Amino acid sequence: MKAAILEAPATELIVTSIDCQEPQAGEVLVKLAASGVCHSDLHVIHGTQATPLPVVLGHEGAGIVEAVGPNVTQPKVGDHVVLSWVPYCGQCSYCLSGRPNLCSVVYAALANGTLLDGTSRLSRGGAPVYHYSFISSFAEYAVVPASGCIVIQPDIPLDIASLVGCAVMTGVGAALNTAHVRPGSSVAVIGAGGVGLNIMQGAQLAGAASIIAIDINPAKLEQSVIFGATQCINSAQTDAVTAVRELTGGLGVDYSFEAVGRPQTMRQCWEMARPGGTVVMVGIAPDGSELVLPATRIVREERHLLGSFYGSARPHIDMPMILELYMAGKLKLDELATHRFSLAHINEAVHLLEVGEAIRPIILYD
Ligand code: APR
Ligand code: ZN
Ligand code: ZN
Repeated sequence: MKAAILEAPATELIVTSIDCQEPQAGEVLVKLAASGVCHSDLHVIHGTQATPLPVVLGHEGAGIVEAVGPNVTQPKVGDHVVLSWVPYCGQCSYCLSGRPNLCSVVYAALANGTLLDGTSRLSRGGAPVYHYSFISSFAEYAVVPASGCIVIQPDIPLDIASLVGCAVMTGVGAALNTAHVRPGSSVAVIGAGGVGLNIMQGAQLAGAASIIAIDINPAKLEQSVIFGATQCINSAQTDAVTAVRELTGGLGVDYSFEAVGRPQTMRQCWEMARPGGTVVMVGIAPDGSELVLPATRIVREERHLLGSFYGSARPHIDMPMILELYMAGKLKLDELATHRFSLAHINEAVHLLEVGEAIRPIILYD
């Protein structure tokens, strides 16, 4: 099959033919219809996040089940599926307590570049090629854990559905599942990219009265208005923390979200929540970086500091719900899909995301 391979950080992806083994026990072969390009793929390409190389990146995919391995009862051949990059074991204490995004079995294996049994189904000339986040959707086919396949209605366009696999779940989930944004509240979102715009529309869905978008790119701020932003701050021109406090009577917002993945903007995020407010960190910072917070004020100002991993997703419940909201016209997903490319042109897609021109470039397969 054709796949795009990253051989070394800071190089272009190479589109080439690789081998893909049959699905093993508990696994599923999916013929991909589409894959979004996400900033987490860029982190690996730029070398700020480590994963075994060579790798097939891509973790925002949707397609149709082509074959299932032994012991798989769900999904079935022919099902339309969105792929979750946090599959689950169903047996650890997190899974059993309704927090499958923290599944301890999956977390332990997430960075190995393999499937859950510790081996890869991908190879080239007999040498292993690694998976990324259990998906590797920059390829015509993917072998994935069955628990990462979320069956959806066949009338939903698969290119749009692919985006639910990362950006939409992460953003909408951060607002609804992690923060539980309350009606009438004030919200600030730093970073108006694929994830940040979905935090905004999640907050809007929850009934936030004001949503302040913060970005350094004026085009992103314009797009924010479509996704529910009521005010915009260009933080390349003004101090975002001061500006947010000015817009909120000097106090700060009820909920602040960071969707960039930098310690500096994470600190801004903490500062722009009001005392007693909720701070939600969504962006993934470079491996090894640290966030410094004022030790006294953490106590005195009682902010709730939350991490949000994959939008605290329960994928089998949340993804069909998100798509139902989309089909009902209550979530904007078509507007996220700004550009479409074939796999042969994947480096152009990566470039458009890098320079901030695309919200989401989507790779389409035949
Ligand atoms: N201040 C404010 N906004 C910034 C800054 C900054 N210093 N630096 C970058 N941005 C903005 C960009 O202009 C862009 O609009 O952050 C946005 C990032 O958007 P995308 O590139 O679309 O990234 P996205 O896919 O949304 O991911 C954001 O979440 O899932 C994680 O790994 C992902 O860390 C990444 C983050
Ligand atoms: Zn992603
Ligand atoms: Zn588990």
